[in-house]
Amino acid sequence: MPRVTGLAVEHHSQPFGIGERSPRLSWKITDAAPGARQTAYELRVVRGVHNPEPVRFTVKVASDASQFVPVLVTPLASREQITIEARCWLDQSDEPTPWSDPLAVEAGLLDPADWEVDFVSPSPDDERSEVRGAHILRAVFETDPQRIARARIYATAHGVYDIELNGKPVGDQLLAPGWTSYQHRLRYQTYDITPQVTSGNNEVRVWLADGWYRGKLGFNGGRWNNYGTDLSVLLQLELTHVDGSVTVVDLSDAWEHLPAPVTSVGLYEGEEHDARAEIPWSSESAALDWRPVTRLPRSSFSAELVAPDGPPVRAIEELAPVAVERRPSGGLRFDFGQNISGKLAITATAPAGHTVVLRHAEVLEHDELASRPLRGAPSIDRYTFAGLPDGEHWTPRFTFHGFRYAEIDNWPGEYVDGSVRAVVVHSDMQRTGYFESSNPTLDKFHENVVWSMRDNFLDLPTDCPQRDERLGWTGDIQVFGPAAAFLYKSTGTLVSWMRDVAAEQGADGAVPNFVPWIECGFPSDSAAGWGDVAVFLPWTLYERTGDRAILASQFDSMRRWVDHVAALTKGSGLWNSGFQLGDWLDPTAPPERPDDSRTDRYLVATAYHARSAHLLARAAGVLGKETERVFYERVAERARGAFRREFVSPSGRLVSDTETAISLALVFELLETDEQRLVAGRRLVALVEDSGYVIRTGFIGTPLICDALASVGATDAAYHLLLQTENPSWLYAVTMGATTVWERWDSMLPDGSINPGEMTSFNHYSLGAVVDFMHRRVAGLDFAAPGYRRVRVDPHPGGGLTSAAARLDTPFGEVAVAWQRRGAELTMTLTVPTGVDAEVVVPREPEPRIYASGTHIIRYAVRAASIDPEPRAVRNLHNPADAAAPAVA
Ligand code: BGC
Repeated sequence: MPRVTGLAVEHHSQPFGIGERSPRLSWKITDAAPGARQTAYELRVVRGVHNPEPVRFTVKVASDASQFVPVLVTPLASREQITIEARCWLDQSDEPTPWSDPLAVEAGLLDPADWEVDFVSPSPDDERSEVRGAHILRAVFETDPQRIARARIYATAHGVYDIELNGKPVGDQLLAPGWTSYQHRLRYQTYDITPQVTSGNNEVRVWLADGWYRGKLGFNGGRWNNYGTDLSVLLQLELTHVDGSVTVVDLSDAWEHLPAPVTSVGLYEGEEHDARAEIPWSSESAALDWRPVTRLPRSSFSAELVAPDGPPVRAIEELAPVAVERRPSGGLRFDFGQNISGKLAITATAPAGHTVVLRHAEVLEHDELASRPLRGAPSIDRYTFAGLPDGEHWTPRFTFHGFRYAEIDNWPGEYVDGSVRAVVVHSDMQRTGYFESSNPTLDKFHENVVWSMRDNFLDLPTDCPQRDERLGWTGDIQVFGPAAAFLYKSTGTLVSWMRDVAAEQGADGAVPNFVPWIECGFPSDSAAGWGDVAVFLPWTLYERTGDRAILASQFDSMRRWVDHVAALTKGSGLWNSGFQLGDWLDPTAPPERPDDSRTDRYLVATAYHARSAHLLARAAGVLGKETERVFYERVAERARGAFRREFVSPSGRLVSDTETAISLALVFELLETDEQRLVAGRRLVALVEDSGYVIRTGFIGTPLICDALASVGATDAAYHLLLQTENPSWLYAVTMGATTVWERWDSMLPDGSINPGEMTSFNHYSLGAVVDFMHRRVAGLDFAAPGYRRVRVDPHPGGGLTSAAARLDTPFGEVAVAWQRRGAELTMTLTVPTGVDAEVVVPREPEPRIYASGTHIIRYAVRAASIDPEPRAVRNLHNPADAAAPAVA
């Protein structure tokens, strides 16, 4: 029996405390007959669920739409609760599906005027550039829960905070409110405290630490107090009574504070906790010398208070060590078998005053924790025991580290199994995309990419989770966006960050190289490939989700970036001056000059300008902005013309005779004629062959090269590159035992020593962007229309793979492609959800075959070139026998 499932509004996983006034609804249809189509839907809505007189209505619409469907005619009010159920009609049937499970939606505080309280601060003005301790604030209030229908806390902070009520944690978020461009947008969180409120006296406590707001951020020594010198919390506690009336509990005179047992804490530095200074939950605590707080009027801060767009940061899972070792120094070393972002959780018994020291590192070098790559992020935690006879359990509250290994000095007594675990911490996104193949090394690489994404989506998309950066580098997520959109439901997290990109864009449209921007000495000049995130990422999210609203809300930001670059080219389309990061980390560049790529930096810049202008024109087309579409397609054409004049010979050779230059020209469609494409393709294959199938591309070329090769029919060359295990290659790190993607191809050298360069992270997702090629081309699961409303299935078997599979939880439901090859015959199992058509590209057939929803077994003979031998080793350039003519279709 067909059913409507998976109701969701906007990009929320839990639509509680949301900021959208007119949230749109999406759903999936499951268990329908093959090929079934929705012809109509009906929504049953209850507004003001807890009001004495809720409003109910149903609306029936003849439509096949199931994504981002409007629900309300009049917008949500602040705090309003609604429930939505949906059902639909399929094909000609008169019988609707049963009603779906209800989805409860609750609005947050939608108007600035809803906030009636001020910030309160235990430390209103501290200009010191040093690591500080945390504070506990508390307020006591009285209630009569008999009369309370619901109770809410709306809260945010200048700093990071945790809330407790009557001795129990409120919510399970970590490092709230997360990191946004605090000067523009400060996120608040909504908590349901109804079950925790008790009769009579209640005590609310807030733990508060510097976090991103006031702690040290950035490299080159970093900067303190980036957003202010205050540490403060904004907390509004509201009780809704049974008659529907709302009381904001006036805590303004009730707040007081004490230093927390967290005596020192920073995101980079680590946390020190003295459990002897714990503040008990008992009448004794009232007798303590609580100090007054300072009130900081809300009006003195200009940031807009915004509800979250994506999921919060949480403790996602715990890992047990795979090895525990007693070091000669007496310390304990733990290997968790996986490089993560997170922290340790320890359980032990020790006398009062006994301190353990916890150090973290991603890798070992010379059998020691390698801390040099952490640079200015010591990542050391300390816990001093209170001396409780039954033992103590501790995990840091306000810091996180990037690590696989940890050492604990001064562990009390023998190590007992289970007493030390690693807690994985990141944004709690839902996994959506999977890949597997017959090549275990390739699968391990894919898993490493997934881990690097997890570790770098800690509230915002970052470069790395371990050293003194952890910043929202724009270029990294620009290249990784398509992979991120496939692997996880990451749209909410990314939409939130894109709003910060727009907020931080200069008046001239310039996009900072990382967002939120910290003034720590890095050039603020615009860089191609980095600033282009303003266009590429909204476009990617639109393609992958089908949500035009993303384009609509980012359009101005996209346009401002393209206008800015057009102005830098003085209208010529040729971006040939100023700062560039170029094909960053080209492996042939010297380790100390990662921007010194073989590819002309202005070739990269002009290519990106052309592509961004073109994507912007397409976005304008989607939004029905015809004038802008025509205008920006002209900007794109001008840039393409400039690119050709400056960098392309009439025959199709590129002035930078590099893999990156040619890949850009091919994938960004910058060449004019088929002859040029043929020549460029042949040259690309020759270069890749000449390199002996090792990587010679940096941030810019790496995500494109396999697609570029496949686009000229050189799939075999793409596989040789993809499956290469010699350094530099994607799989080299896997053979070196990597569990995440490295920043440099050779972050660890073959002899096990660490690359001497300044930047040597073992957890950067950027170079893992190629998994998008694996999903689309190796397994063959691609979209043919935005949001996967139509799917294109075009596997490129090769590389000796006998099977590959990808599946994706699309907005319509799961699409799965799994192929197996026996000799020249390929057998594919294809699953298509209701509402979607799949076009399957079959070799030698002029048109794709179309498959409607359902499961299909498809067989065909693969192209001869796809029956490929094992991947090639690095070619010895001095051995002529290694030279084999590359195949170009
Ligand atoms: C970051 C990169 C970033 C680059 C650009 C590095 O330090 O870790 O991933 O894109 O700088 O300069």
